[in-house]
Amino acid sequence: MGESRALPRAEALCLGPPDWKHACHVLLYAPCPGRLFGKFPLRFAVLMQMRFDGRLGFPGGFVDPWDLSLEEGLNRELHEELGPGAALLRVAEKDYLNSHASERPQRVVAHFYAKQLSLEELRTLEDRATQAKDHGLEVQTGWRRENVMGLIRVPLYTLRDGVGGLPAFLSNTFIGNAREQLIHALDTLQLVPGEQLQKAAYMTQTRP
Ligand code: IMP
Repeated sequence: MGESRALPRAEALCLGPPDWKHACHVLLYAPCPGRLFGKFPLRFAVLMQMRFDGRLGFPGGFVDPWDLSLEEGLNRELHEELGPGAALLRVAEKDYLNSHASERPQRVVAHFYAKQLSLEELRTLEDRATQAKDHGLEVQTGWRRENVMGLIRVPLYTLRDGVGGLPAFLSNTFIGNAREQLIHALDTLQLVPGEQLQKAAYMTQTRP
């Protein structure tokens, strides 16, 4: 995706069809006690997904012009991607974080949400995700290309070598502005200490 610019929700909603499409995605997270190897605090379980194209992104997708609201479209997409576990889940306007518009490769406004769950709810989602209509490539039909290869958790710690964990994770390939969405949410929701997050983001920007 080319450059994207942040814009207020009200302004973003003025960008309508046929010129603009709207997509909504959500970061789902839960407080997660415990330490990796008894040392590195896990802090939170944060979900992303491996997409059909090998890029990392968040659950969600395009909202249809006939959806009553962004949130209704997002909840419908979540049901398709996450399966029966998403019945537990209702993303609402209060969970909204930001919107970004980009012109290339197509005109898309990406709206982003974050929702906190209990660890038990998040585990149930993970357990049931393989029953979703969009899980795996075997159910791909026609023009739809929203298949999900699996949910993953984002490592929020940095290992002693300074690379393993979050810095290595951030050097993956992300769809659209998903990497920026992730970093912004980790910061705003204070899921990772500020200095550690800055270092991890900076390191992956400067690596060859
Ligand atoms: P699709 O999932 O490939 O159909 O993508 C729909 C649109 O949403 C495209 O413009 C993607 O770049 C964008 N997109 C998909 N996943 C994410 C995400 O996690 N964050 C931000 N944009 C995304």
